[in-house]
Amino acid sequence: MTKCVEFKTHETITGAGIIEISRPEALNALNQNVLDQLSMTLADVASRTDLSVIVLRSAGDKAFVAGADIKEMLNFKSEDAHQFSRRGQAVFEALSSLPQVVIAQIQGFALGGGLELALAADFMIASQNAKFGLPEVGLGLIPGFGGTQRLVERIGYARALEWMTSTERYPAETAFSLGLLNRVVPADMLVQTVESLAQAIASQGPDAVRAAKQCARVARLPSGKAGFEIEAQCFAQRFEGVEAREGLQAFVEKRRPNFRTSTVTSRSP
Ligand code: CAA
Repeated sequence: MTKCVEFKTHETITGAGIIEISRPEALNALNQNVLDQLSMTLADVASRTDLSVIVLRSAGDKAFVAGADIKEMLNFKSEDAHQFSRRGQAVFEALSSLPQVVIAQIQGFALGGGLELALAADFMIASQNAKFGLPEVGLGLIPGFGGTQRLVERIGYARALEWMTSTERYPAETAFSLGLLNRVVPADMLVQTVESLAQAIASQGPDAVRAAKQCARVARLPSGKAGFEIEAQCFAQRFEGVEAREGLQAFVEKRRPNFRTSTVTSRSP
């Protein structure tokens, strides 16, 4: 199993930890191996009472995470897709419910499952070069790692649905103006900005920081467990027809998909 998720305590900030996803050759795309390693890492982090803040980051300059692994999904059957979606949702829920405050440090592309991962952190700090979006419908898919639920909660129904259905990529400034990001900074200030916020949080009363997060989570809109299952069902159904096959195959063959001649009707959940 290739090691692609690393956890370490911060070298200079007492009370802070770092989770790093490292698969830069695939723009840190999330395959089952990454999800499994992330899941194991999160179980360890959850028990670390000495830590009050976690930085979630990834390797390379080009992408935070470019989504779920398209090549791995290429031969999915509907049951595989349902399982993959539920697995991703569970891992992201484990991230979201960590007792520590989680800061996602975003450079480059945060697309599809990459944006969904960042949405499961408590907040995001992004470089000016960051680009956000949900390209799934362009592959004949939908977001399957909780994004249909969490993006609506963060930026509201109409904007979230526009993001989900247009495949447009939004610059960091736009994401900031919609309240998705806490800060946008020049690329060369990203690490320093995240570290200084992590330091600020880590130097407060650790139990108080955890209690603040616990209460703030209660104040959020109910995440709607039913919504996650409907998302997983819809994601799985995408793999029953030829539309997703065409979308995924087109990505791998580096061409535009042709949905109009291959569209099939799909059932509602
Ligand atoms: N899965 C698998 N491999 C990926 C990937 C992904 N999501 N994104 C990029 N890669 C791979 C590319 O295939 C390429 O590999 P090769 O060198 O072997 O061809 C490598 O990473 C570099 O990528 P590009 O050559 O495409 O780089 P680029 O600069 O031309 O484009 C990009 C960058 C715009 C991010 C482009 O890679 C891209 O569009 N990626 C896919 C984004 C996407 O559609 N994400 C959603 C996935 S579906 C999903 O996430 C579902 C879900 O919710 C569960």
